[in-house]
Amino acid sequence: MKRVSINWVYPFWGSRIIFFLFIVVVLFIDLYFLPLIALKLSINQILLICSIEILLSSLFVFGQFNRSKYLKQKKLFKFIKLNQLYITQITETKEKKYIETLEMEWIENKEDTSTFTIRVYNIGGLLSHKVNDLGSKLEAYLGKKLISNTKQLTYTDYTFELIKDERLKVSDLNLEKDRNSTVIQLTKKISYDISKSPHGLTVGTTGSGKSMFLNYKILQYASIGADIYICDPKNADLSLLRYVSGFPEDNVAVTSNQICKILRVVNTKMMNRYDKYFSGQGSFGKDFTDFGLKPIVVFIDEVTAFVKVSDKKIAEEAMSYLYNLVMMGRQVGVLIEASLQRPDASILDGAIRDQLGCRVALGNLSEDGYRMVFGSNFKDYKSIQIKGGGHVQIDGKMTLPTYFETPFFDKNFDFLKELQKYY
Ligand SMILES: Nc1ncnc2c1ncn2[C@@H]1O[C@H](COP(=O)(O)OP(=O)(O)OP(=O)(O)O)[C@@H](O)[C@H]1O
Ligand SMILES: [Mg+2]
Repeated sequence: MKRVSINWVYPFWGSRIIFFLFIVVVLFIDLYFLPLIALKLSINQILLICSIEILLSSLFVFGQFNRSKYLKQKKLFKFIKLNQLYITQITETKEKKYIETLEMEWIENKEDTSTFTIRVYNIGGLLSHKVNDLGSKLEAYLGKKLISNTKQLTYTDYTFELIKDERLKVSDLNLEKDRNSTVIQLTKKISYDISKSPHGLTVGTTGSGKSMFLNYKILQYASIGADIYICDPKNADLSLLRYVSGFPEDNVAVTSNQICKILRVVNTKMMNRYDKYFSGQGSFGKDFTDFGLKPIVVFIDEVTAFVKVSDKKIAEEAMSYLYNLVMMGRQVGVLIEASLQRPDASILDGAIRDQLGCRVALGNLSEDGYRMVFGSNFKDYKSIQIKGGGHVQIDGKMTLPTYFETPFFDKNFDFLKELQKYY
């Protein structure tokens, strides 16, 4: 779409009023004027008038087709005018002259049609400092929620939500048993494929909704038919899975030794999968879904608590398995879903973090905390008031963290009963 500046003018062929006036004039000419003077005009002259009419009509039809585009440009033009995003000078002849103007462009996002982007160009002039400072003004002006703001060398992109995202309700989901998909839906709009963005990290202070979110993920993995392992060093919410009949008792661990054992067992399973399916040439470029393998997933609630309370040797051994799983698990479908109360640099270093496909920060984190989870200098974090509200970034799908709300559990929703359906 064409850039808009203070010099922009609405194309007359996009105007409805002028189009209707044109129709009236054409009708007047063709029905009244031409018959009146027909005898005095040669056939060539009449043909010329008709050709001009057809040409102009085509231009107007084109204009009407592009009207929505022009209206968007007009909106940007008004924004530039309203905020005086230009610099003027009065010339000697007392005329107003624009010596600099910001340029903006309205971009439809083809990959994600539920958003659109306003690009503001930076030409390195006197108005440069305003280019990165228009987020909240544009938000108020357009009445749309700003999702992200990306600064590039010569422009800044402001991306807005066109269609409002909606929180899912767990009780409405009704997932089919053994569904043949590796997609996990987080909200109406946000979903991701665990074979493409493997492993999950959920960080949040106490009460922010981490366990609820992990419960939701357990339901999702269970419906896929995944082999689920639970490590719950707090012996709290997640360990309750042992009450689901048919859920293997050995898959639930609460003590340090048990947790370390599960990680060792899963590590062996991972290596076995590599040996069995991925040692030949034919496996090049394939992943577990190509062999019809179900994911194996280890849930670890509160990794920090585990490391802090465990014997140093056990903690070290367990963490080495964990890192191994994170680094190698994707292809063979062996995944980790971890939660942390506080991002801790000694546990969550950058190399590990970047392997975690779905990173979530629930509630409000410190600036450092956000940086540890998302690893970017993004600062526009929304303040969170809602339980289960937070930010998510999905590797390969999002370039910046996005606000979202985890699926909602009704007070009377029976999680264990629901989970029983898949066993
Ligand atoms: N998705 C949700 N749907 C409904 N209620 C929620 C949701 N998320 C959080 N809550 C509410 O917030 C409370 C705390 O959530 P949760 O136990 O998941 O927090 P947590 O982060 O695991 O806390 P802790 O670190 O203390 O274990 C829940 O008991 C519930 O009332
Ligand atoms: Mg919890």
